Amino acid sequence: ERLAVGIDIGGTKIAAGVVDEDGRILARRRRSTPTTDSELVLTAIAELTEELRAEYPVKAVGIGAAGFIDESQSTVMFSPHLAWRNEPLRDRVARRTRLPVLVDNDANTSAWAEWRFGAAQNVPDVVTVTLGTGIGGAIVIDGQPYRGAHGMAGEFGHQQVVPDGQPCECGNRGCWEQYASGRVLTRRAAAEVEAGTPAGARLLELARLDDTALVDGTHVTRLAAAGDPTALEWIAEVGHWLGVGLANLAASIDPGLFVIGGGVSDADEMLLAPARAAHADQLVGRGFRSEARIVRAHLGPDAGLVGAADMARIRARRRRPAN
Ligand code: BGC
Ligand code: NA
Ligand code: ZN
Repeated sequence: ERLAVGIDIGGTKIAAGVVDEDGRILARRRRSTPTTDSELVLTAIAELTEELRAEYPVKAVGIGAAGFIDESQSTVMFSPHLAWRNEPLRDRVARRTRLPVLVDNDANTSAWAEWRFGAAQNVPDVVTVTLGTGIGGAIVIDGQPYRGAHGMAGEFGHQQVVPDGQPCECGNRGCWEQYASGRVLTRRAAAEVEAGTPAGARLLELARLDDTALVDGTHVTRLAAAGDPTALEWIAEVGHWLGVGLANLAASIDPGLFVIGGGVSDADEMLLAPARAAHADQLVGRGFRSEARIVRAHLGPDAGLVGAADMARIRARRRRPAN
C-alpha cells in the first residue's frame, strides 16, 4: 500500500490529508491560509506533512496551490490571492521534508481527483470549474490535464466578462471570478450585515453558530437552503454568471462534461439550475448542436488534496519502480 500526503492551499484555507491508492482520506488536518506571508505557508506545509507522516508511512507529498505554476511544475509564478511571486515551492518543500514533492494548480489537482475517483470518471474530454475564493479551471483532454505552453492553461476565472467591471485581485477588472465565486457571496453577505438588514441579521446568527463573527458564502448557502428568498436570489445570480461563463468555454473547448466543484457547489441545484438555463440561453449554435452536461463534483472540498496526493503518488512510483 502506498500513501501520499495531499495539501490544498486555497485563498482562505489549507486542507491536508493522507490519501490511499483509492482516493480515500485516512487522516486530515485544516488551517487558515496565511495570505500575506509566503514563508508562513511554507512552514505550515512542512508542519502538516510532519504531523501526518508521524501517523502514516507516506511516500510523497502533492501540493495543489491556488496560483500559476510554471511548465516544469516547480515554481508558483504568481497568485492573485496569496503572496507567492516566483516561489520555488517544489524544491523548498522537498528540502524541508526530504520526500518527493509534486506541485500543481489547485484546480488541476481537483480535476484529476474527479477524473480518477469522481464525477468525471470515464469521460475523456472534461472541463472543471472550481468555485472557491476565486474560480479555478482545468481542461482534461483524452484523460490528460492540458497545461498549455507555459503551464498556465485553465485560468478561466480571469476571463473578462464585464468591461470595466469589479476590480480583481489579479490586477485586472471585470474578471469572471468577481461574478461567480464564493467571494461574491461573501461580499454580498458582508454588505448586508453592514447595512443591518434582516437578511444580514439572519446571516450573523448562522455565523455565530459557527463561532465566528465573519459571515461568508457558506452561510448564504445555508440560509438559501432554509428557503430565504434573498439568499436564493444571490445564489441564482451567481449561477447565472456561472452559466454565461460556461457557454463561453463551450464555444472554445466543446467538452462533453462540465464538472462544477469548490465550496459554492454545495449550493447544488440552487446554483446549477440557473447555470444550466444561462448556458442553454447563451450557447452559440444552440438548437443545432450537442450540449455538454453540467454536473456537480463528487469529491466536494476534498478534491484538491485527494488529486494532489494521487498525482504525487503516481509520479513517485514511476521514478522508483516497484517494491
Ligand atoms: C487563481 C487560480 C486558482 C483559483 C482557485 C484563481 O483566482 O488564479 O490559479 O486555481 O483562483 O483557487
Ligand atoms: Na488550472
Ligand atoms: Zn482577475
